[in-house]
Amino acid sequence: MVILGIETTCDETAAALVDRAANGTGRIMSNVVLSQVSEHAEFGGVVPEIAARAHVEALDYVIATAMAEAEFAFSSLDGVAAAAGPGLIGGLIVGLTTAKAIAMVHDKPLIAVNHLEAHALTARLTDGTPFPYCLFLASGGHTQILAVRGVGDYLRLGGTVDDAIGEAFDKTAKLLGLGYPGGPLVEKEAVTGDPARFPLPRPMLGRHNADFSLSGLKTALRIEAEKIAPLTDQDVADLCASFQQAVVDVVIDRLRTGLRMFRERIGAPTALVCAGGVAANQAIRKVLHRIAFEFGTQLVAPPPALCTDNGAMIAWAGAERLALGLTDTLEADPRPRWPLDQVAGR
Ligand code: KG4
Ligand code: ZN
Repeated sequence: MVILGIETTCDETAAALVDRAANGTGRIMSNVVLSQVSEHAEFGGVVPEIAARAHVEALDYVIATAMAEAEFAFSSLDGVAAAAGPGLIGGLIVGLTTAKAIAMVHDKPLIAVNHLEAHALTARLTDGTPFPYCLFLASGGHTQILAVRGVGDYLRLGGTVDDAIGEAFDKTAKLLGLGYPGGPLVEKEAVTGDPARFPLPRPMLGRHNADFSLSGLKTALRIEAEKIAPLTDQDVADLCASFQQAVVDVVIDRLRTGLRMFRERIGAPTALVCAGGVAANQAIRKVLHRIAFEFGTQLVAPPPALCTDNGAMIAWAGAERLALGLTDTLEADPRPRWPLDQVAGR
């Protein structure tokens, strides 16, 4: 079955066509992502109103390009999927309404996909990973550890009580005047920095649940920076290295706890899967490998372009749901808040 997937939850306007074979394997026919990064850069973060307007302007073109690259006609589609949440309401309305229009005109089933579910199922598109597996999702908007037991069957083992990890990287970069998005810039600075120079906290270390907290770390970093201002280039590098090391230490501890919870409640995971832009960080990637090994499993890391927001993951989640007969009506609402454990399964 061939599904059109539409993604507009944040600052990427994206559309893709994915073909799911009867045996459950997937093939990406086209995957078009238009990033709005440059439009938000001067503000150091995503501005919702600018994002919504940019989706309105770009989406028709992005969908047309995805259809053309796959050389496929709307009439031949098996379904139309759009991310219906969680995300910024302006973008959700644009994407979901467009999907409804296409579904109605061409008389195709609509699948209102949870954006987090799409991240969660991507490893099945890229690697055919069987259930149950443990997902570490870390992006600019989300930080969660999840047990993925089946389509529509997720157990949240941990989440962030304040900032997402990517958000903490972005705020650190902004504070140090590095630019946006901050993750790659902080990582680059950290290479030449001293990770032991600043005594930053490791929030939540040793807690029994697998939750994260990052806002205290960011505040501690600001205080250290203010103490030694004005900052030299080496100071900036040392602050970045110390910050990144603190995040790495927190990730190690929280994932160990998450995987222990997984083992107790579900059994052995088939894999540790990572998703989200933060997984591009080499220092974090290294410890993910180590922890997977420690727990006797493997790390499945989809290619970066499928870890960050894209249309293929929405199309794939739509295909997995449609294959189980899980479709939505044209009354489906956009849902700015939509926790993954509230997604319906079969
Ligand atoms: O998944 P993503 O592309 O978009 C969403 O947030 O939905 O993730 C972007 C986030 C940003 O906060 C960015 O700073 C962070 O991922 N990021 C990184 C790295 N590359 C991207 N964080 C740390 N190290 C990186 N190399
Ligand atoms: Zn995302």
